[in-house]
Amino acid sequence: MSDTPFDLVVIGAGPGGYVAAIRAAQLGLRTALVEKDLSLGGTCLNVGCIPSKALLHSTEIYHVLATQGAAHGIVTGPLSIDLPALMKRKTEVVSKLTSGVKQLLDRRKVTIVQGTGKLGPGGQGVEVTRPDGSVQKIETKNILIATGSSIVELPFLKFDGKLVVSSDHAIAFEEVPKNLVVIGAGAIGLELGSVWARLGSKVTVVELLPRIAPTFDEDVSRLALRVFQKQGITFELGAKVTGLTNENGQAALTATRDGQTLSFPADKILVAVGRKPNTSGLGAAEAGLTLDKQGRVVVENHFQSNLPNVYAIGDVIAGPMLAHKAEEEGVAFAELLAGKAGHVNYAAIPSVVYTEPEIASVGMGETEAKAKGIAVKVGKFNMAANGRALSAAAVDGFVKIIADPTTDRLLGAQIIAHNASEMIAAITPHIEYGGSAEDAARTCTAHPTLAEAIKEAAMAVDGRAIHAG
Ligand code: NAI
Repeated sequence: MSDTPFDLVVIGAGPGGYVAAIRAAQLGLRTALVEKDLSLGGTCLNVGCIPSKALLHSTEIYHVLATQGAAHGIVTGPLSIDLPALMKRKTEVVSKLTSGVKQLLDRRKVTIVQGTGKLGPGGQGVEVTRPDGSVQKIETKNILIATGSSIVELPFLKFDGKLVVSSDHAIAFEEVPKNLVVIGAGAIGLELGSVWARLGSKVTVVELLPRIAPTFDEDVSRLALRVFQKQGITFELGAKVTGLTNENGQAALTATRDGQTLSFPADKILVAVGRKPNTSGLGAAEAGLTLDKQGRVVVENHFQSNLPNVYAIGDVIAGPMLAHKAEEEGVAFAELLAGKAGHVNYAAIPSVVYTEPEIASVGMGETEAKAKGIAVKVGKFNMAANGRALSAAAVDGFVKIIADPTTDRLLGAQIIAHNASEMIAAITPHIEYGGSAEDAARTCTAHPTLAEAIKEAAMAVDGRAIHAG
């Protein structure tokens, strides 16, 4: 592979693209990474996963002190929020990580090209429009499209950055909105709804479906709803958003439910109804790249598109739009390209919503199994019976283990609990290695830990949890 300057050009420096570039360079491939933004790391590091987690952490400290401080015997003066300082900390976390990515790429001698990349004619080479408008053509043996996704806009509710906003804006409000209306009770709606509710906004979440966090099991959604309502968030379920009114300077979002018109006063409206793949600027049609109806790059085995030597990973192809899914694909792709074995186990990709309590799942859910007519056996354990949860005042939640009724193979898990994001990591390996509920039940777990609830739920699969009646 030495007659072109590069073996691989990656378009997009998000968690999929930069990880693929590093792994390819580790394996000796001459690699370039094209990114339109000066700051590397894509949506996840700059405006998604990381800044939202920084905000969730800061606001959780505030919320716990404000609502539970006295119960813990902590005496404080009046608490207040310094929003610019809170935002500054978030920005510093982001800068540290994005500059860290640059250092990692430099150390691996990945060539970073700033500009917007598109496929050359017939998918041969990459054309990069640089910030000064000039176009640079890069020859390469292989191209990896890792351009990610962007926020879906509702056609009758265009983003203006002031009243109608996306998560990009809602991680950087300059003041706490009095009335925040969130459209969509998925990951973004619940996480950012939590952030601003903790800071004092009156948050109303309007959701089209009859339940929140609809990708998780129904019992998880039900408990999440109850807990978040207790935290002061209002949910309007089964409501179809229709538009916007503005009377006497007060904007309101309108919706309909069962033939009734609803109206929610709003200083900010956060639209969080999903994301769409970024394929529009790629020159797909001219290059002959096949996209599906949703605009995603169609890939076959080994992430290969219909064009020879053009590949795609992450949000721009089918599958859950999750940073860690993109990372796994990035590593597997680079290893396959280098002639090694690369593999992604799509049955073992965890998913987390970072609310309090957190919601996490991996593998098959009970609701999904029921919908597909797949027989499962289930064990459930309530956090209220877990000593560590009681000590941490974190008793809302449960762990549920889903197993094959014949073979006992562990098929999936659903957790709603404090630190569920870390707990799910103790279940994923059982699925990855083809383990059973019995394996999880026999795994010694330190006491006292929240993770003991996993062992107990696994034992509950056969009705033998110790700390359950
Ligand atoms: P989502 O797909 O997670 O949730 C969108 C929600 O909006 C769904 O509940 C849907 O039923 C609802 N909805 C759709 N159209 C609607 C309408 N017209 N009116 C009312 N409700 C409507 O999408 P979200 O939250 O925007 O996140 C986008 C992507 O980013 C997702 O793939 C998500 O998994 C990912 N993400 C992941 C995070 C995490 O892993 N913690 C955090 C944030 C985003």
